[in-house]
Amino acid sequence: PVLVVDFGAQYAQLIARRVREANIYSEVVPHTMAVDEMLAKGPAAIVLSGGPSSVYAEGAPSLDPALLEAGVPVFGMCYGFQAMAQAMGGTVAHTGLSEFGSTPASISDASSTLFNGQPGDQSVWMSHGDSVTEAPAGMRVTASTAGAPVAAFEDDERQLYGVQWHPEVMHSTFGQRVLENFLYRGAKLSGDWTAANVVDELVGAIQDKVGESRVLCALSGGVDSSVAAALVQKAVGDQLTCVFVDHGLLRSGEAEQVEKEFVAATGVDLVVVDAREQFLSALEGVSDPEEKRKIIGREFIRVFEQAARDVVGSRGDSDHPVEFLVQGTLYPDVVESGGGTGAANIKSHHNVGGLPDDLQFKLVEPLRSLFKDEVRQVGLELGVPEAIVWRQPFPGPGLGIRIVGEVTAERLEILRAADAIARHELSAAGLDRDIWQCPVVLLGDVRSVGVQGDGRTYGHPVVLRPVSSEDAMTADWTRVPYEVLAKISTRITNEVREINRVVLDVTSKPPGTIEWE
Ligand code: XMP
Repeated sequence: PVLVVDFGAQYAQLIARRVREANIYSEVVPHTMAVDEMLAKGPAAIVLSGGPSSVYAEGAPSLDPALLEAGVPVFGMCYGFQAMAQAMGGTVAHTGLSEFGSTPASISDASSTLFNGQPGDQSVWMSHGDSVTEAPAGMRVTASTAGAPVAAFEDDERQLYGVQWHPEVMHSTFGQRVLENFLYRGAKLSGDWTAANVVDELVGAIQDKVGESRVLCALSGGVDSSVAAALVQKAVGDQLTCVFVDHGLLRSGEAEQVEKEFVAATGVDLVVVDAREQFLSALEGVSDPEEKRKIIGREFIRVFEQAARDVVGSRGDSDHPVEFLVQGTLYPDVVESGGGTGAANIKSHHNVGGLPDDLQFKLVEPLRSLFKDEVRQVGLELGVPEAIVWRQPFPGPGLGIRIVGEVTAERLEILRAADAIARHELSAAGLDRDIWQCPVVLLGDVRSVGVQGDGRTYGHPVVLRPVSSEDAMTADWTRVPYEVLAKISTRITNEVREINRVVLDVTSKPPGTIEWE
């Protein structure tokens, strides 16, 4: 792999993603990992991420020079660049010339390894207080800015490179080209991390792990569990049984997509549990968001547990017991839990967990090394229907947390109709890739007066909540064109009798969360 050494900034994951966009596998490791341990992973190259503002800051992480002497190509960015300069005997100084944001850089050697084929003037994204004032011996300086006389250095012989800026952010206009030049020309790697190869590799790993045992998967209809199931199906075929709990809180057409299209495309053995009545009666009279979430989570476990027992009884035998449970864990979760920074519990999210002791499964997590966009590529490669592969993130508790107030069968029907219209029009306007997700929220306990034809109405509002985001941790409201909003509003109020008002949520996250409950 290409190892991205995380010096504690928020950029390491982004760098890893950029390396993979160049079709090369990469992993994030903490800077506290010993050099021996890093080298034991057999790195093809190493990227040093950005980090604290200054190598002189108190507690600033240092770079073990051994990493630069191991014969592995290294590329330092921002803090990583300064740490490299310092470790190799260059000078890093407080010059008082800090630079933040888009900065013009001049490239002094446009035929160098990093800058080959690029213009001599480019805009780069800076974030530094200190500067490298003297390059280490043997390093050729190939770029400078007003505040950083040494803004890039290169040594082809030792395959050591660095830039003062952040090539991984899109504001650095040639950032990806610089990174790719390092990978392909500097480190001489080839881009063979493609969806087809990833599928082959993951299929092999699943086969090794699972052997002859049987595997159970909770299919939610979302991207992750669907792609995970399709991978396991490809690996071990009918040793897999999927359980789909229809809790009645899905959007229009989603249950059918799982039951028909997904099964037709992948051939999985699917057990559908129709628990719609059970969820509705458990939610009767409940308006509090956290209580709804707890009830939905609890009922889900109950239903799934029973289905799992049935599958264990009907599909397994003593030679081939149901031993494994598929989980759609993604790489960012793995990195984040390794980082150990526990986030506050803002909302109680639910996933399958907390199964009883006599139903202990070993986990198969085939997506553990993948980012979301890679999961989608793998899904397409496996023939998972596009409607599922490109599905927006959808919360486990489903429409249950998109109805403010009590969840009833009638309200679910109203919301499903409005949501289907909004989704259809946003897709028709070509906005699917600009919008991370667009919850449609029914204000079940709010009524407002309207007029339709000659009559007074007293109906419910729905809220459109289109957001743009990279990872759902932060988000901004999407500037959907007025004419698209107008069409959605007209259609919903014309076609869904109970709704007489459509409103737009223009709050970023923070302070608002994406969902309303
Ligand atoms: P919030 O509303 O916290 O949502 O900004 C962030 C992202 O998480 C999704 N979400 C959930 N996903 N189970 C899930 O699997 C849940 O209980 C849950 N609640 C929120 C939400 O749709 C958004 O993408």
